[in-house]
Amino acid sequence: MVKRKGIILAGGNGSRLYPITKATSKQLIPVYDKPMIYYPLSTLMLAGIRDILIITTPNDRVTFEKLLGNGSQFGISIKYKIQAKPEGIAQAFLIAEEFIKNSSVTLILGDNLFHGDFLVNQLQKNYLLNEGASIFAYSVSDPQRYGVVEFDSKGIAYNIEEKPINPKSKFAITGLYFYDNSVVEKAKKIKPSDRGELEITDLNKMYMKEGKLNVEKMNRGMTWLDTGTTDSLHEAASYIRTLERRQGLKIGCPEEVAWRMDFIDDDQLYSLSIDLKKSGYGEYLQNILNESKNSSGSYKY
Ligand code: TTP
Repeated sequence: MVKRKGIILAGGNGSRLYPITKATSKQLIPVYDKPMIYYPLSTLMLAGIRDILIITTPNDRVTFEKLLGNGSQFGISIKYKIQAKPEGIAQAFLIAEEFIKNSSVTLILGDNLFHGDFLVNQLQKNYLLNEGASIFAYSVSDPQRYGVVEFDSKGIAYNIEEKPINPKSKFAITGLYFYDNSVVEKAKKIKPSDRGELEITDLNKMYMKEGKLNVEKMNRGMTWLDTGTTDSLHEAASYIRTLERRQGLKIGCPEEVAWRMDFIDDDQLYSLSIDLKKSGYGEYLQNILNESKNSSGSYKY
């Protein structure tokens, strides 16, 4: 079976969140009850990915390591690399070349938050992809902020434009990308754009040219949020708070995902809960553990 590794790109300036992100990484600030990076980390883990590289700025690396360590507490491996300057999303594959080796790889942006029933099936299906690329398109009200994709009448994607002034569709490309191993060689061929970045859109266009780019529409029942501005950050926090309080279930909780995916066992989950008890987070972990022992009403992935 194909081995798939994961990358979380968590560098960047975060300048649209200044002054919040002047002294700290955007991906370390909270989205309601947990650091932002917990959400993309949980998404990769839900895809079944257990070998993960986190790319950070030089300054923030130590703090990410303090938060997440080597990943063994979640039954996964986490390694770290630095991006000296934010020179584009596609640069992740150059930085990660040694880490990727001969694997397939999934990249997720550190400020992207996905939620919905579509996710687990799609993620686990795409885990198995060993040739070509799979990316996701989501209908948004402000497509000009993103890479925008056009579909023909059969639903096949035939064009992508980066931040178009006059977008030809409402479908933005999300920050979750599944690639085969050729991604590193492709990334080496990309030239910096006018804004001086190695653009992920150029990489996707290379796959498209080869007829190997699969663009799947995420349906409207899915939620994709990015958290790059103060308003979108606040909206994301409200969304998480509303759902968590209504359902009594956490979103983007890597301890829970690790346990439900059988990366860790009951005892390990219990140990993780101890330190976290005062905030209620640990109590939640103990509750889901107890519920699974006492009833058959628990969710499994
Ligand atoms: P952006 O939101 O485009 O950039 P940013 O995080 O630097 O924020 P701002 O525009 O407010 O200055 O980045 C999207 C995600 O990708 C975010 O999680 C940071 C990450 N990223 C990098 O880590 N390195 C890069 O070179 C780029 C372009 C983005």
